[in-house]
Amino acid sequence: MNLQALSLHHAISLPSLNPNNSTTLGFRLPSHRGFKVTSVMSPQHTWTQTWKTDVLRLIDETEESLFKTGKFGRFGGVFVPETLITCLNMLLSEFSFCLNDPHFQGELATALRDYVGRETPLYFAQRLTDHYKNSRGEGPEIYLKREDLNHGGAHKINNAIAQAMLAKRMGRRSIVAATGAGQHGVATAAACAKLDMECTIIMGDVDVARQSHNVRLMKLLGAQVKSIKGSFKDATSEAIREWVGDLERKYYLAGTAVGPHPCPAMVREFQSVIGKETRKQAMEKWGGKPDVLVACVGSGSNALGLFHEFVRDEDVRLIGVEAAGTNIDGGTHSATLAKGEIGVYHGAMTYLLQDDDGQIVGPHSVGVGLEYPGVSPELSFLRDIGRAEIHTATDEEALDAYALLCRLEGICPALEASHALAHLGKLCSTLPSGTKVVVNCSGRGDKDIETVFKHQQQKSGGELTTFL
Ligand SMILES: Cc1ncc(COP(=O)(O)O)c(C=O)c1O
Repeated sequence: MNLQALSLHHAISLPSLNPNNSTTLGFRLPSHRGFKVTSVMSPQHTWTQTWKTDVLRLIDETEESLFKTGKFGRFGGVFVPETLITCLNMLLSEFSFCLNDPHFQGELATALRDYVGRETPLYFAQRLTDHYKNSRGEGPEIYLKREDLNHGGAHKINNAIAQAMLAKRMGRRSIVAATGAGQHGVATAAACAKLDMECTIIMGDVDVARQSHNVRLMKLLGAQVKSIKGSFKDATSEAIREWVGDLERKYYLAGTAVGPHPCPAMVREFQSVIGKETRKQAMEKWGGKPDVLVACVGSGSNALGLFHEFVRDEDVRLIGVEAAGTNIDGGTHSATLAKGEIGVYHGAMTYLLQDDDGQIVGPHSVGVGLEYPGVSPELSFLRDIGRAEIHTATDEEALDAYALLCRLEGICPALEASHALAHLGKLCSTLPSGTKVVVNCSGRGDKDIETVFKHQQQKSGGELTTFL
């Protein structure tokens, strides 16, 4: 069996869709000019009416065929060696069964409530709202979906606990997972401890050094932490290799909405509790829907978790914020949707950071969990049909947003989530007063204190005045 085929980037590289003349999907994509909607009250409002139905039709079509084809439009699929197909089919059938099984759903609901700590609050950030008001005191209202308050400190546990329960039902006793920032590793280690399962977490040595706090925590939770050379993408390849080496006993617990079908659909489904709660809470708080949803995009799980519930509500804007790193034009970034090209990686077709030869280009972000050269195929699809808007925030902007939320709200966000918060600086002035904006605060930032502290130190020329 060619194990490499799973972990290495296949040399399939397709040109990006050209929104001006593409008919690839059987319809004419919105023009590039219109594609970049920048405001709810955008001057392009009238033409959006004309393609609204196409967008909805495409979303409905993809959802209807997803479980048969594993595809979101042209993205996704199952690009794996033949030997893995049986295993993925077993997973698909167990997952499909669990989706409609009241017993599984009941157990999951109990775990989410009593173990994870759901529902998480939809918090009105009064001082952050005031901060972004204009000189006339006008501006949007900013709400934070507090995924940082979950057990383990991030949204990752929503999916980890659900998949660990699924694995146990399938008779697997040993879980293998890859982590970058360590949040998925902590969540998986915790779920395995609770369910009495063996747990191996694979992590790149660069990330072990950057996220040592989480490494210690994973070990305390009973996981074996295996450090390999490289970063998150290499850890993912290695985790898949471990799983492929022992398919009978091991279960690969995907931490984000990438990989071969059904992984992206499964992770999206288990994270969609974020959006479902948001809809209910918005109705309770102001009797309506949010107007704008903002989430950071690493590989896509927290963004899809928030967006999925609202994907058919075309009046709700979906904004994903990728990492522009230190130089978005010079290659030191993680802005896959903004800068990538279509190709196949880790078993699915999606946008990728790749060079002219189709080789993967290493991503960079100060938010370690955003460093992945691919992205969820579903987000690639939503971006290409014009349903999701994609923006970027630099390392510097994210670090500033981190400090700002600490000071204004007493909330310390993960550096990943800080990218979504950083976008508020550009977004708020374009929105009508009173617009309801929900930002996914996908995790808490204790793990990043060292990084932020060093940055503050550099900024103040070696003085520790800002933080001491
Ligand atoms: C707190 C937090 N937010 C966001 C992410 C990015 O992942 P995703 O895009 O799958 O939500 C991570 C990844 O580790 C994370 O730890």
